[in-house]
Amino acid sequence: MNSSSKSVPVVTIDGPGGAGKGTLCRLVAQRTGYHLLDSGSLYRLTALSALQSGVDLADVERVTSLAQALNIRFEVTDNSTSIFLAGEDVTGAVRREEVGMAASKVAAYPPVRAALLDRQRAFAKAPGLVADGRDMGTVVFPGAEVKIFLTASAEERARRRVLQLQESGDTPDMAAILADIRARDERDSNRSAAPLVPAADALILDSTDQSIEQVLSAILERIAQQTGTRKFQ
Ligand code: DC
Repeated sequence: MNSSSKSVPVVTIDGPGGAGKGTLCRLVAQRTGYHLLDSGSLYRLTALSALQSGVDLADVERVTSLAQALNIRFEVTDNSTSIFLAGEDVTGAVRREEVGMAASKVAAYPPVRAALLDRQRAFAKAPGLVADGRDMGTVVFPGAEVKIFLTASAEERARRRVLQLQESGDTPDMAAILADIRARDERDSNRSAAPLVPAADALILDSTDQSIEQVLSAILERIAQQTGTRKFQ
């Protein structure tokens, strides 16, 4: 059991990609004043590091070495986080579709997951942490006070991703995006190491037909209940 998750309040928000975790975690962090961990970015950075240095994604040993040696820095402002890999701003690069697919591959390797564990736990500092991922409540912070599992239908998640890409000037193919989402769900849910499953004590929220505000208020309500405070409402 992880002792740091006991000393400060930890809110874990797990779920599949595109369910709205990123946006909601940021909002929850703003409302609570807690730190924010985007754990997916660590898998994306490992994947990007492999792609940049020509390491074969199938070479578990070398990919694990890259994960251990990652030289990363997060610059957090109210509305965004800039990510630096070995001093280079890779904020845009880590979000690319092919980096996401590669991240999903390296995330299936148990030694890669083990290499990133302490780095993730080190984010649990006062006054608290909001942790965004797939296994935050099950593996990384099993003692977290508040556990949320946020989901949405694959179609809705694809629709949101298409809108996001259109806003950044792309002309995405809905069918290809939906197929990608399904492939990633399948791999994330069926891998043997830390598969995407809700923790037994997680509150399961489905954002398919809910606005961000509705989901945010359900999460803040849960935090208030579990931590015995109403100050975030
Ligand atoms: O949330 P994201 O799309 O940035 O995550 C990128 C990949 O990393 C995704 O395929 C799932 C994986 N991941 C994981 O296995 N465990 C986490 N805690 C976070 C992400």
